[in-house]
Amino acid sequence: MSDPKSLRHFMEEQHPQDMHLISLLMHLTMAASELSVKLASYPFGQMNDVDCGINVQGEMQGPMDVFADHRFMLHLRASGSCCAVISEEQPEVVRMNEDLGDTAGPYIVALDPLDGSSNVAVNIPVGSIFSIYTRKDKDKMLSNVDYLQRGEEQVAAGYFLYGTTTIFVYADAKGVDGFTLDSLSGEFLHTHPGIRIPASGSTYAVNDGNYHLFRRGTQNYVRFCRQQTELGDVPYSARYTGSMVADVHRLLIRGGVFLYPGTTTAPAGKLRLAYECNPMAYIVEKAGGLAITGTERILGIEIKSIHQRSPIVIGSAQMVMTAGHFINPILPSLHELHL
Ligand code: AHG
Ligand code: MN
Ligand code: MN
Repeated sequence: MSDPKSLRHFMEEQHPQDMHLISLLMHLTMAASELSVKLASYPFGQMNDVDCGINVQGEMQGPMDVFADHRFMLHLRASGSCCAVISEEQPEVVRMNEDLGDTAGPYIVALDPLDGSSNVAVNIPVGSIFSIYTRKDKDKMLSNVDYLQRGEEQVAAGYFLYGTTTIFVYADAKGVDGFTLDSLSGEFLHTHPGIRIPASGSTYAVNDGNYHLFRRGTQNYVRFCRQQTELGDVPYSARYTGSMVADVHRLLIRGGVFLYPGTTTAPAGKLRLAYECNPMAYIVEKAGGLAITGTERILGIEIKSIHQRSPIVIGSAQMVMTAGHFINPILPSLHELHL
């Protein structure tokens, strides 16, 4: 491989006219680099200098959730390209400024600042996830018209995975590319050009502890994954980390399927549409995969509130369709779903 390009070089080639998008991405990667360093030194960090509490999800915020949210907000504000942020850690939309017209940033970001945060203290990979939308009308005050856009209206989406290395996966209309943080230079280098998800894979990811809460169709699919074939071999391995970014990254590179389905007690499931399901669905579908709720495509869902939850089945298209037919025997065809 020739020397990999920097993210800035890649973006200047990919979007030479869109200085705002380039600025937005460079500021997102600055926040992610800081978070990567903080996570690496977590056990030693004096994390009691950030106030924690219960977030709008009703979940206990960890110190790293708050730190991550603060750093992304600071850099997004500094980018001059972002007019509003929807964050898992903020009850309402955070408006970056009240300006109208050309001075206000053209982009809106939906953000999960730290995904899988319960894994931080046990050294299991965690991530950050974002979607980018275009403001509908720069000469009108920001409103739900701007904030509640369907997933298929995304301009771009990406995630950072803080694992053995820090990886940045970025998707836009031109495709999906991966970058690895070079800890010496601090640059994200273009190490995974043109990512395509394998048509199938051998892993399924689901929280089996919820099996008793799954609807019958979902239970039938999980049993299908566990069973042996007539030849006696077991086609699938179960892989589940509790960090969506880690589980989805695995299937993006090797193929596979991830499910966080609705249950009898939580029919909409757990994962949030705006900053988990939609960005991951956009990335996986740009790589040739598929993401559904069980009955419809994730990217087509009309979003009604910024913290709305959705069931999700995401991964290699063939495997998602197989799971979908167990969950919903009258699932539309792949062609109809992609309309
Ligand atoms: P977050 O840390 O942003 O709240 O996300 C955690 C999510 C997701 O990363 C993961 O797939 C899922 O929660 C795991 O949930 P369960 O522990 O219920 O399986
Ligand atoms: Mn999350
Ligand atoms: Mn989170």
